[in-house]
Amino acid sequence: MKAQLEAIRKGALDSIAAAQEMAGLESLRVKYLGKKGELTALLKQMGKLSPEERPAMGQMANEVRAHLEEAIEKQAAVLSQKALEARLKLETVDVTIPGKRPAQGHKHPMYSALDEMKEIFLNMGFEVMDGPEIEQADYNFTRLNAPENHPSRDWTDTFYLTEDSSVLLRSQTSPMQIRAMEGYGVPIRMVSAGRVYRKDEVDATHSPMFHQIEGLVVDKGITMADLKGTLNEVIQQIYGRDTVTRFRPHHFPFTEPSCEVDIQCYKCGGKGCPTCKGEGWIELLGAGMVHPKVLRGCGIDPEEYSGFAFGLGLERLALGRYKISDMRLIFENDIRFLEQF
Ligand code: DAH
Repeated sequence: MKAQLEAIRKGALDSIAAAQEMAGLESLRVKYLGKKGELTALLKQMGKLSPEERPAMGQMANEVRAHLEEAIEKQAAVLSQKALEARLKLETVDVTIPGKRPAQGHKHPMYSALDEMKEIFLNMGFEVMDGPEIEQADYNFTRLNAPENHPSRDWTDTFYLTEDSSVLLRSQTSPMQIRAMEGYGVPIRMVSAGRVYRKDEVDATHSPMFHQIEGLVVDKGITMADLKGTLNEVIQQIYGRDTVTRFRPHHFPFTEPSCEVDIQCYKCGGKGCPTCKGEGWIELLGAGMVHPKVLRGCGIDPEEYSGFAFGLGLERLALGRYKISDMRLIFENDIRFLEQF
């Protein structure tokens, strides 16, 4: 039995020293010291020994067990140290490697054009206002003096949100004129930009959602000369000092008189080219003197106060400003396009 114990000790110590992984070490522990292990099996045979032999054998068996346990523990420490070193090596961070720069975006060209506009108006003493895209028909049409049968009121033109046609997605930013006068009274100088909605098919110059900038000035003694002077100044700040403008008579329900403002084509200088569709002029905005009925509807006496208003499409402004040929590019958010600005 002594020889057997020695054999177990020797074999076990060799295997333990050779173990290279924790799992292997654990199975060695089971193999020798486990309930069904070799040492345990041998101890079960102690009963066969003579009473004189038993104590010495028992002591030796305990020594072997303690020896093996110690050897396993030591080897486990060696293995876990090795594992730690391997992991540290694997996970080393080289702090000197240059970082990955996150791709940085920038302002959309249309919003750059809008910011430029706002800046110009702020410098002229205008306030910038915000208003709702979900609007009452009353503000979008009626109080802007649009007759009951005005074509833009049609369900085929405007997105109504209620069966009774009382609430809609605003089709223009002009209701902000009413909100400004109603909310702040006179005198007033404001611009307001935002989304408007119309039932238009998408093509190179149309979209069911687009942006407008609205402007309104009401004070004592405001005349058409103020309208022309202000708009000429703004247009020249945007398109250059040598830009030629043209004020053409037009009709809008909420202004009287009304006009449309064109600029001489920046591409051909007025000769006629594809950009201006051979006209030599490019339409920029609608404007006019605020209709007395509109003023009166907001509690302002048209005998005492007068004003002018204007509205323009922001997409078209950006197309002209940055020489973009198709409005769809504004909305598609193709990085290759946007990166050019
Ligand atoms: N709201 C008009 C449109 O959408 C544009 C416009 C014209 C606005 C004349 C104005 C204005 O303030 O005076 O076509």
